[in-house]
Amino acid sequence: MCGIIGYCGPKPMANVLVEALKRMEYRGYDSAGIAVRSGSELTVIKRAGKIAALREAVPAEIPGDCGIGHTRWATHGGVTDHNAHPHLDASGKVAVVHNGIIENYAVLREKLSADGVEFKSETDSEVIAHLIGRLYEGDLTATVQQVVQLLKGTYGIAVLHIDEPGTVVGARNGSPLVLGIGEHEMFLASDVTAILGHTKQAIYLEDGEVVTVTADEYRTTDLNDRKIDKNIQIINWELEEIEKGGYQHYMEKEIFEQPDSITRAMQGRLDHENATGHLGGLNMTKKELLDLERVKIIAAGTSYYAGLVASYLIESIARIPCTVELAAEVRYRNPIVERNSVYFAVSQSGETADTLYAMRELQRKGARVLGICNVVGASIPRESDGGVYIHSGPEIAVASTKAFTSQLTALYIFTLLIARMRHMSLEEGTRFVQALEEVPERVSEVLQSAPAIAELARKYHSARSFLFLGRGINYPVAFEGALKLKEISYIHAEGYSAAEVKHGPIALIGPETPSLFLVPDDALREKVISNMKEVQARDGRVIAVCVEGDHEVAALADDVIMVPKVHELMYPFVMTVPLQLFAYYTALELGRNVDQPRNLAKSVTVE
Ligand code: F6R
Repeated sequence: MCGIIGYCGPKPMANVLVEALKRMEYRGYDSAGIAVRSGSELTVIKRAGKIAALREAVPAEIPGDCGIGHTRWATHGGVTDHNAHPHLDASGKVAVVHNGIIENYAVLREKLSADGVEFKSETDSEVIAHLIGRLYEGDLTATVQQVVQLLKGTYGIAVLHIDEPGTVVGARNGSPLVLGIGEHEMFLASDVTAILGHTKQAIYLEDGEVVTVTADEYRTTDLNDRKIDKNIQIINWELEEIEKGGYQHYMEKEIFEQPDSITRAMQGRLDHENATGHLGGLNMTKKELLDLERVKIIAAGTSYYAGLVASYLIESIARIPCTVELAAEVRYRNPIVERNSVYFAVSQSGETADTLYAMRELQRKGARVLGICNVVGASIPRESDGGVYIHSGPEIAVASTKAFTSQLTALYIFTLLIARMRHMSLEEGTRFVQALEEVPERVSEVLQSAPAIAELARKYHSARSFLFLGRGINYPVAFEGALKLKEISYIHAEGYSAAEVKHGPIALIGPETPSLFLVPDDALREKVISNMKEVQARDGRVIAVCVEGDHEVAALADDVIMVPKVHELMYPFVMTVPLQLFAYYTALELGRNVDQPRNLAKSVTVE
């Protein structure tokens, strides 16, 4: 979604701002712009379309002592140069970039229009610039503190004023904003990837905070100008991690990183002697863990599917009821928080609005909510009552891949921990630990099938629609496979339980609609084979993901992808990776924009 950058310092403005916007491209956007302050001049350049269009319009050098920039993902008003940020006030002295949604913008706009203000865009954001322009009396910080109190909704903003040399003021409510502290330079950004090339020292703003930034100083306050002391945190990502490192796409790189990212997610968290998990960040006593009667998981998209896989595991080996719910649905149905329950908010970005707001509502009702997140310092981990970082490293491709398998890893370790406190024996625990530790190696083996999967993508890429079918713990993997394919190739795909096909979806089966079956050698294998035969009897083409040496399935299916044999609970890892590759290569065949598929944003910070 939208990205913000602000800069105060000596480096060439145009370069710093445009480069930072480029780093945030992955979030998804449809227009971009910058504003640079110099003397009595404000240079504003905005373009609909890609950063490349903006870069072309921006002169190599724009003199200036501070600047702001923005990538916009349209919500209010179409994708036009006018609607792109920064927005100016009527005097042209104030420039504002805004992430989030101003819910009362229509009322504010009406009032301003009645006072004679002419709006240049259809956005909700422009009202902020006009309000600041009208209320400014020589102190930008004070004006921002005053104006944000008139706003309802969510915002992360960066503002500059012609009369305040070398100064950018930022404020946040519900949309992330981070201050980057460099050597005689400061940055404001919505995303640390924008500033990683310059500094690793960061301060994360909280809702209701305002920051005033110059090249050498910063001051954080609340809305009543009371000073707030903030801790500087060190960003633990490396610049190389946000580069493609020789791969054609970020998604390809991130799929291939999984043996490492899964290993990182389990590092230091497995206690071999006691065959259990060790998760320091849960902030739960042994007694609280032992007393747990219910686990609930809230999440969106791919993270939701990771939660669904975990629910099978938690119920089967820890024998605790576990429910998984779409976060967007939880918030508005007045959820019941039960005693001795724990919630997990699973989110790669840690900023997904649906998940964050649901978490807050649950906390208001007294729930203990733990985060399973990747981005350190994001809103969900900061506001949760504890949790686990998955340490996947930056996930830049819009389609989530390595975060999914690392979320699974964290949830598997949590399950092991509570299972060992209950029914699981030392021997079973030891087998589970060994099996989990073997996963990175097995995933490496799956990755060797990439050329064969690319071949399959060539064969099937013209299909109009796909069914992904699995059962048991691999049933949610079918959902994830379908989501990957639809979001990056734009081919319609649905995940179903293989058993459910005969209850309706079988009507879709025919040569045009291939089915991809997940057939691990688990207790449900025979049943899945029967479901495969039902599909084939109706002229459905079948790709089977099955276990090496499964000649029966290989002989039945039109095409197969072989995965190594693993512990039966570890199949979600090795079955997901081929589906990621299949989606990736299919999207390549179709010439799609793999890393930034149409209409999608990496971090969905609106409801
Ligand atoms: C799919 C995808 C999305 C996200 C969803 C939640 O590939 O990336 O479905 O999984 O938007 O995002 P997070 O995990 O950041 O909360």
